[in-house]
Amino acid sequence: MLVDRYVGDRALLRPLFREADDSEQQIDTYLDLGAVFVAEDDGEIIGHLQLITANDTAELKSMAVAESRRGTGVGRALVQAALEHCRQNTATRLLVATAAADVGNLRFYQRQGFRVLRVERDAFVASTGYPDGIVIDGIPLRDRVWLSHDLSGES
Ligand SMILES: CC(C)(COP(=O)(O)OP(=O)(O)OC[C@H]1O[C@@H](n2cnc3c(N)ncnc32)[C@H](O)[C@@H]1OP(=O)(O)O)[C@@H](O)C(=O)NCCC(=O)NCCS
Repeated sequence: MLVDRYVGDRALLRPLFREADDSEQQIDTYLDLGAVFVAEDDGEIIGHLQLITANDTAELKSMAVAESRRGTGVGRALVQAALEHCRQNTATRLLVATAAADVGNLRFYQRQGFRVLRVERDAFVASTGYPDGIVIDGIPLRDRVWLSHDLSGES
């Protein structure tokens, strides 16, 4: 498995972006922004990660691993590549936001060294493209949790 910068047509990655975000309306606003890294195995794209950088802060805006390949370290490798890119570009922190309802994602990001920063209540609402009734792990999709990975203290 290889992780590399993606320079192809972003539209081809939309199915993976959809795995990470239930709102087509939101995906339209950021699909073409920033840098995208992909994990490839035998020429097949099995995961993606999008980084959007402003000043010294980078945001991990979207990431997903093909369902059949989850739990095998692909996500971890993508986050490591993103952190390395941040270090090389002197970003001092990497932010990520995820649904409070998605306890699996909260575990995944904390296992990669992120720490909880703040909670944005009622971030996922119909007016931003998230219809009522979406439930994850039995929890209604409602609040957004921001996490950060601080790179400034690294030697
Ligand atoms: C989140 C996601 C990218 C993780 O990728 P992955 O390749 O499955 O993760 P890895 O195999 O590298 O796992 C790394 C660690 O996180 C843990 N982890 C990953 N997904 C997890 C989940 N859903 N629940 C609990 N733990 C999880 C793994 O068990 C592993 O833990 P360990 O270090 O204790 O062994 C993947 O599950 C995914 O594509 N989810 C759907 C899209 C999505 O929700 N994207 C994020 C939007 S914010």
